[in-house]
Amino acid sequence: MATLPDDLQSALDGALRRFPHQDLSRSVDRLISRYREGRAAAGEVILHSEVDVAAYAGYRMPATFAAVRAVFAEVAAVVPEFTPRTMVDVGGGTGAALWAAQDTWPSLVDLTVVEQAPHAVALGKRLVAEAEEPALRGATWRHGVVDPGAPAPRADLVTLSYVLGELPEHTRADAVRWLAREADTVVLIEPGTPAGYERVVAARDLLVELGLSLVAPCPHERECPIPRGRDWCHFTARLPRVGAHRLIKEGTLNFEDEKFSYVVASRTWSRRSANRVLRHPLKRKGMVVLRLCTGEDGLEDTTVSKRHGDLYRAARDAKWGDEWPPADRD
Ligand SMILES: C[S@@+](CC[C@H](N)C(=O)[O-])C[C@H]1O[C@@H](n2cnc3c(N)ncnc32)[C@H](O)[C@@H]1O
Repeated sequence: MATLPDDLQSALDGALRRFPHQDLSRSVDRLISRYREGRAAAGEVILHSEVDVAAYAGYRMPATFAAVRAVFAEVAAVVPEFTPRTMVDVGGGTGAALWAAQDTWPSLVDLTVVEQAPHAVALGKRLVAEAEEPALRGATWRHGVVDPGAPAPRADLVTLSYVLGELPEHTRADAVRWLAREADTVVLIEPGTPAGYERVVAARDLLVELGLSLVAPCPHERECPIPRGRDWCHFTARLPRVGAHRLIKEGTLNFEDEKFSYVVASRTWSRRSANRVLRHPLKRKGMVVLRLCTGEDGLEDTTVSKRHGDLYRAARDAKWGDEWPPADRD
């Protein structure tokens, strides 16, 4: 379960207490309909008032944090030697990726967010002001846009989380080229929908064409074997609904599952991930069936039974999104 760091949870709860609950709920409804109408990809700034940004942070930030944290955990598992010092998060909103990165890599000392919505920058700054980590408190927040004509973000880690779908379609490839130009490692995350996956797979192919190596989730750089139109590569992160988040969601469940698609590529690391578990493993008495994306043979269902001993025990513990066989995760 991906819980928010305590300092972020309390900063977020404090920030949301400034608004009546009904106002936040109304804003959430407004945001949902603006996104559904595709107004973000038509170039509209969706987060345009203080209460909208607070509603976004309350409604979505715990989930985007959980997704980004899960992706970073995979990167750290594939390349344990990766100890980034600098990060630029483009379209960073209220800073979910920053917190997730700091939680994964305490080596980070220089964090920058580039974000077009001034109220998101204001709330993001307010949240990091309460962080325990000095690097988070010292983050730089730049009011700016994805601009392939401007100098490219230069950092060990460059992230674009839940933003690609907000860019007009014809600008996405240039945005990916721009992000990858000066970055050591690029992380792109999108909602785990068929459309989100299509955007990720297009970016994946472009990153390979640009000469970067895929770090995760793919175990190979050939064409993605997922049967297009019938399935899509995505993963899931479970997060608790607590505090203001639970109130805003007005749901009865005390957790939710955030689905996401992602790709991570690097100029420095050419470490390939092992086979990737693509579904919740099917557990039967004495056996586990794993749906895998494999390095050599495309998609494969593999059965691990009790007679496989330790491997069977590992299969019982395997989760959707893990590498298989598992890398040593300390
Ligand atoms: C769905 S939110 C994601 C926020 C954050 N990255 C996260 O994962 O929680 C999309 C963010 O991208 C920003 N955005 C959209 N288009 C942008 C652009 N062209 N340049 C900079 N930021 C942009 C929006 O203002 C918004 O904050």
